[in-house]
Amino acid sequence: MVLPGTDAAAIDRAAAALAAGELVAFPTETVYGLGARADDDLAVERIFACKGRPADHPLIVHVLDIDQARHFSSSLEGAATRLIETFWPGPLTVIVARAAGVAEAAAAGQSTIGLRSPAHPVARALLEAASQHGVAGVAGPSANRFGRISPTRASHVVDEFGDELLVVDGGDCDVGIESTIVDCSRAAPALLRPGQIPRERIEAVLGRPLEAPGADAPRASGTLEAHYAPRARLRLMPAPMLNTALQMLGDSPLKLAVYSRTVALPSGSRLSRRVMPDDPDRAAHELFATLRELDDLGLELIWVEEPPSDSAWDGIRDRLTRAAAA
Ligand code: TXA
Ligand code: MG
Repeated sequence: MVLPGTDAAAIDRAAAALAAGELVAFPTETVYGLGARADDDLAVERIFACKGRPADHPLIVHVLDIDQARHFSSSLEGAATRLIETFWPGPLTVIVARAAGVAEAAAAGQSTIGLRSPAHPVARALLEAASQHGVAGVAGPSANRFGRISPTRASHVVDEFGDELLVVDGGDCDVGIESTIVDCSRAAPALLRPGQIPRERIEAVLGRPLEAPGADAPRASGTLEAHYAPRARLRLMPAPMLNTALQMLGDSPLKLAVYSRTVALPSGSRLSRRVMPDDPDRAAHELFATLRELDDLGLELIWVEEPPSDSAWDGIRDRLTRAAAA
């Protein structure tokens, strides 16, 4: 059932459901999350069951602010606090040491925990109302079945899970790709997942370059090689290659669509094409909705033009590369 996120009574109903250990999908500025109270392992286990997510993949816990974050981590300091002060509320998740005995299921048993304070006003209203009901934080992976494309609209969540689930509608997600994840639990901060915030901005705050994830980094589904997959096979190609491939295709009966920034269809082509915006923030905003829309055409193939190589496109390139690997 979809509840309007602008309605205070609806927010309170959703907050009460969270407090009672039920699942509630909610909007954030990145993507929609599938929430359960993080301080209740049984509630959190419902998330894993609903998504079909392996139990050893930890979840992000959403909090209102650094004070709520301290409930889940007793050692918020150094790099993590600098990042929190700069980027919260916003699309940044920090991985930090977990306080003893809390959020065991959300952390999938790891000694660390991922924390994020969302900026979306509806997410904040929900966290606020839930905290009035005694909820310390809301565990929430993206509200999609395991390995599929993250939802950026309430209707995407309903497409994934049906009408039974409570979904708070907050409109289209602004950012459109999942949060940047920085692991601050080790000596040197590492970038586990690129997002909207360019790595240079994070490095400027930290005063040092971000490391690559270590080989011993915990399993992170968003960091699996194959993820974010549409049903159609996705191929990522540099512009000249895509252009040549399209010229060679002729009148082939392939069920194919093109998602490109600079490469146009050959004249007379009857293929579907979606245009990727030149601006990386706009491109990210539309990315998952466009992939879902193309997927609904019942295609065999989606040919995508490789995004530009500068760091503002890192998050988009990362999602497309993983979708292509599926
Ligand atoms: O933007 C987002 O981050 C969205 C919205 C809903 O907040 N959430 C999201 O959650 O993308 P999810 O579960 O789809 O991706 C979270 C990523 C996963 O790759 C997970 O493994 C990683 O964060 N993660 C969570 N806790 C971790 C931990 N303790 N150590 C390492 N990775 C962790
Ligand atoms: Mg996800």
